[in-house]
Amino acid sequence: MIFYFSGTGNSLHAAKVLAEKTDDRLISIAKAIDEEMFEFELEKNEGIGFVFPVYAWAPPEIVLNFISRLSFMGEISYAYVIVNCGGNEGRTTSILKKALEKKGITLNASYTLKMPSNYIIGYDVESDEEQTQKLRAADQQLTEIGEQIIRREKGVYHTIPGSMPGVKSKLAGTMFNKFARDTGKFYTNDNCNQCGLCVKICPVHTISLDQKPVWGKDCTMCLACINRCPKKAIQYGKNTQKRGRYIHPDLK
Ligand SMILES: Cc1cc2nc3c(=O)[nH]c(=O)nc-3n(C[C@H](O)[C@H](O)[C@H](O)COP(=O)(O)O)c2cc1C
Ligand code: SF4
Ligand code: SF4
Repeated sequence: MIFYFSGTGNSLHAAKVLAEKTDDRLISIAKAIDEEMFEFELEKNEGIGFVFPVYAWAPPEIVLNFISRLSFMGEISYAYVIVNCGGNEGRTTSILKKALEKKGITLNASYTLKMPSNYIIGYDVESDEEQTQKLRAADQQLTEIGEQIIRREKGVYHTIPGSMPGVKSKLAGTMFNKFARDTGKFYTNDNCNQCGLCVKICPVHTISLDQKPVWGKDCTMCLACINRCPKKAIQYGKNTQKRGRYIHPDLK
């Protein structure tokens, strides 16, 4: 059973590839929360996996909140995590491991999976060449990860913590969740044709259409709305007008 959360399709792609390789079930965390599904029945020898993007060197709060409510019927034979990020994960695996331990679940394997960055409110997108190279390397890594999962390899921690991981995860992760998830800086320009896609894809249903999109307060900062708007109509503060947009090729 693979639980995934994804804003711009990278984690969705990784989860789909692994589900196909391991012949596993895919569960969208956002959909499960909508449907208030927090209890899952496991088949004999079934493992569990979590695939999600890193936000400020930590797991998205929505993922941690979901895990805090999660319960299983049946024995968990194996647990792994794919920490998806643009560069490095800090101590994301450790944070997730602790969250799972609180539920009595032992993490057996963890992998940092580098994919193109979607953090366009901080930096511009990578070049096409760099994106292609990262996507190709990620697919190769997913093949190896899939084989290790099938073999139920335990004690595997192929993580990329980066420099000063403890400081980054503790300081930046906490500051991000307290101060950076501000929807006040989202706005649309005249390109918006009111297609409603942003409303439909927001995982926390915070966007509504009142002639133009209007943002509520709740936001995970997945950046699906700004990256996926087909008209490039959504902006955040002053810098995103000139920047590119990123979505995984599967979503194009
Ligand atoms: C709010 C936010 C914060 C991010 N922080 C990090 C980070 O700390 N380290 C990193 O390497 N990538 C970071 N990223 C990049 C994403 O983790 C990365 O692009 C990921 O592949 C996106 O996955 P998705 O397409 O499934 O949403 C951040 C992205 C967002 C939107
Ligand atoms: S996705 Fe873009 S064009 Fe469509 S309603 Fe939202 S802002 Fe407007
Ligand atoms: S408002 Fe945009 S960035 Fe925030 S959760 Fe919804 S889609 Fe993601």
